Amino acid sequence: MCGIFAYLNYRVPRTRRDILQTLIKGLQRLEYRGYDSAGVAVDGSGKDHAVSISLYKKTGKVKALDEDIHKNNSIDFEAELDTHFGIAHTRWATHGEPSSLNSHPQRSDKNNEFVVIHNGIITNYKELKKFLVSKGYEFESDTDTEVIPKLIKYLYDNRENENVSFSTLVERVIKQLEGAFALVFKSIHFPGEAVATRRGSPLLIGVRSQYELSTEQIPVQYNCGDSRTNEQEKNEQNRRGSTNALHSIDDKLAVEFYLASDASAIIEHTNKVIYLEDDDVAVVNEGKLYVHRIKRKAGEDSVRVIQTLQMELQQIMKGNFKAFMQKEIFEQPESVVNTMRGRIFFDTNTVILGGLSEHLKEIKRCRRLILIGCGTSYHAAVATRQILEELTELPVMVELASDFLDRITPVFRDDVCFFISQSGETADTLMALRYCKQRGALTVGVTNTVGSSICRETDCGVHINAGPEVGVASTKAYTSQFVSLIMFALMMSEDRLSMQQRRLEIINGLKKLPELIKEVLALDDKIKSIADELHHQRSLLVMGRGYNYSTCLEGALKIKEITYMHSEGIMAGELKHGPLALIDKHMPVIMIIMRDACYQKCHNALQQVTARQGRPIILCCQDDPEISKMAYKTIELPHTVDCLQGILSVIPLQLISFHLAVLRGYDVDCPRNLAKSVTVE
Ligand code: G6P
Repeated sequence: MCGIFAYLNYRVPRTRRDILQTLIKGLQRLEYRGYDSAGVAVDGSGKDHAVSISLYKKTGKVKALDEDIHKNNSIDFEAELDTHFGIAHTRWATHGEPSSLNSHPQRSDKNNEFVVIHNGIITNYKELKKFLVSKGYEFESDTDTEVIPKLIKYLYDNRENENVSFSTLVERVIKQLEGAFALVFKSIHFPGEAVATRRGSPLLIGVRSQYELSTEQIPVQYNCGDSRTNEQEKNEQNRRGSTNALHSIDDKLAVEFYLASDASAIIEHTNKVIYLEDDDVAVVNEGKLYVHRIKRKAGEDSVRVIQTLQMELQQIMKGNFKAFMQKEIFEQPESVVNTMRGRIFFDTNTVILGGLSEHLKEIKRCRRLILIGCGTSYHAAVATRQILEELTELPVMVELASDFLDRITPVFRDDVCFFISQSGETADTLMALRYCKQRGALTVGVTNTVGSSICRETDCGVHINAGPEVGVASTKAYTSQFVSLIMFALMMSEDRLSMQQRRLEIINGLKKLPELIKEVLALDDKIKSIADELHHQRSLLVMGRGYNYSTCLEGALKIKEITYMHSEGIMAGELKHGPLALIDKHMPVIMIIMRDACYQKCHNALQQVTARQGRPIILCCQDDPEISKMAYKTIELPHTVDCLQGILSVIPLQLISFHLAVLRGYDVDCPRNLAKSVTVE
């Protein structure tokens, strides 16, 4: 998915080389989100000191863009720029193929008067384009984004007087835009000034200064009207004094600002950040950051608080592992502990999810629970549905967000809807959230990203605390989502006498979970040897049922995502209704057969497979000679409570997909055509 990074140094001298390096590094931190091209815009190095903007854009990796820039003899790398604003972008194509013309920054005209970077999608771009074409503007790309720089130039060219401010122009632009966006603007008409805005796509601003900052919270300025001029803006700013803006308290106001779609690009520079809200227009002018809004809605927050990020850079670095995904698989003994920390009290067998406690009564009175997500997050819902039904005695629906919306599913005021999302930004899930909110349901977020859109827009929620997940294929977030939903079921059943035995069993299981995960990870060599045998195959079936049906879906998704092999998660009960036709001695099959209520039924499925000369690789419990003798290969797992077994059984499938991808020579962390965070519908 697209990534935004921008850097403004105000009275902090930096060479053009430093600035370009900062921008490129920012983009590299966003690479994990998936992209197909990249670009930057900085002030030009014209000899006559005329104000100009230079664009450098390239298809492919950020590294290739960096190399291109460094080969460019016309750039004066050593020039020192006391104040400068540079913008950078990684693009993941939605409108128009990956190409340098289609990549961002997009521009208003050949002189680069206005340049813009954009995440999201403009749904009314065709109408806007038609209008702008009728006004004589020539388009050069196939993107939806290009209407934005053209529109701002149109508004600039037709401004009522010379003094209309940059932020006013941007406010006028966003009034015309429909869809989702995070935008950062740069212009030769407003040198050293940055304007940024968002609606539906995340954007945050980091601030760094060696001096003290003027405020801990920026008051939002309303009533910016249509006709604010530069002069009025400055007067207004002077009149209101320092408290209305964020800046450094020193004579020179020396300060640096970092704008990004994702905290991982900012954290190495500063941990002081401001998250913008939908329709905020943030302006950095003469070293001061202001937040404007067109009008105030009832009940909305009228300040933007400067937050301190807790994330550390090494948390998002790869360490000694070959890939982030591998690192994240091996982090699971700790990440599940982080999910449970401070929430499960093993001495008293109680569970408290702080983010839900205030709403617990309301949740207990609800008509049903609806769990909504996409991809892996949806699988976490499938995985925990049965135990949620058992412990809450409520009907539980699990829904793919896109399908849920397509069906215009009936939702009622007494429904409780869970939105499960690692990133907290997935567009389909976010739209489903807004849909349920409109219908008056209580909305609960289950996310891994503090401050994400889903976190902010839900009534309450649980942070799964798995730590940053960089690999596109989700691993530790899945097991932490799983644990979080189990904890919710435990909290809901705390006062149910008849369920105490079962609760105790699960709580004890959770206590031992980290050790058991370590035991599973110790099987890595054996799993790799199985991958060695399988990596030339074209297809791989994964079969199971009951608590492990979701493991099959999730395992097959991992295999598809990063190995590009065809893989299907098959519900073993459905075997005889179709998939059995696929079985012969050549078709690789993984079967999950654990000692639970479905054991005998899975055994029957196994017999059906072996009777057709299938050669199953079986994930089973340790010491199960019955199963072992029918298997081509076994991966023996430690046994745990039935409803937690899926946390252990998914790990060999995560590992197998990782090894298969490496053996097949693919980029594990950035699979083709996929993005970590899909912020378009
Ligand atoms: C994308 C990713 C998947 C992920 C899904 C949901 O499709 O490629 O790995 O499971 O989005 O993401 P979320 O952040 O909402 O959990």
